Amino acid sequence: MRSDKQRVAVWDTLIRLFHWGLVAAVTISFYTTKTEGTPFLFPIEVHAQAGYLIISLLVFRVIWGFVGSVYARFGTFLYSPKETATYTKALVARRASSYASHNPLGGWMVVIMLLSLSFQAISGLFLSDDIFFQGPFNELVGRDVSRELSRLHALNSDLLLILIGLHVAALTAHKLLGERLVTAMVTGVKYFKQSPADLQTSTTGKHRLQALAALLVAAGITGWLWFY
Ligand code: HEM
Ligand code: HEM
Repeated sequence: MRSDKQRVAVWDTLIRLFHWGLVAAVTISFYTTKTEGTPFLFPIEVHAQAGYLIISLLVFRVIWGFVGSVYARFGTFLYSPKETATYTKALVARRASSYASHNPLGGWMVVIMLLSLSFQAISGLFLSDDIFFQGPFNELVGRDVSRELSRLHALNSDLLLILIGLHVAALTAHKLLGERLVTAMVTGVKYFKQSPADLQTSTTGKHRLQALAALLVAAGITGWLWFY
């Protein structure tokens, strides 16, 4: 049925697990602070545990951005400001090419989201709610630093909500233009009428060893924070 289209395997299994795991953990992080947090007995504990998982997912993603599959690498989807501006102009004129990995604007958006998520999760480690919960590194900093980080944790959580809103809005716009990006993040595959602008001729193999190393480091960090 799709024989007239070029099939490209873009997102490997680990990237897809990373993405949907991140969506679940970030949802729990917000749920446990913005609502009563039922049915959890100690929502703030669950909040912190979701945060530890997010830290591991981010560590995995950064390693994978250097040694992972070709479309997941930062080197594949980060473009210079000039190239990004050229892409943006083409997008406005509705002449933009399709991309297998993130397009130039999407690539920078990914970096901003990863930075904001990292700040959010790492700052959380130094917080206390002054009642039940003390983050694992809370005692390493004084009360004033912890208070300031708490203010920034709240501020950055609003930024994160805005970024997530923009992310979903961009995906909706792509869908209206006929690009099925969400399906690709589920199945791993994209179909193109014309070759994508960033089509890679040499794939970088299966990376079993790199995957194992990245997963071990990420899992080690969660375990360490959990039992710290
Ligand atoms: C990406 C992960 C995280 C997200 C999205 C997130 C989000 C939030 C949000 C929305 C609040 C409420 C802010 C407010 O309006 O007052 C909050 C508070 C809090 N978070 Fe996080 N957080 C994350 C990670 C963490 C981690 C890893 C920890 C601890 C290990 C943590 C500890 C806390 C504490 C203790 C509070 C309450 C602070 C207070 O009562 O002043 N958070 N977080
Ligand atoms: C908590 C909310 C979310 C966060 C924090 C988030 C974060 C991210 C991140 C970091 C990436 C980059 C993936 C990578 O290269 O590692 C990404 C890509 C993507 N996300 Fe999300 N996401 C969220 C919600 C969603 C939702 C609700 C959907 C679907 C409806 C979605 C669909 C996608 C798709 C399709 C891509 C690939 C975009 C492309 O092809 O360039 N995300 N997301």
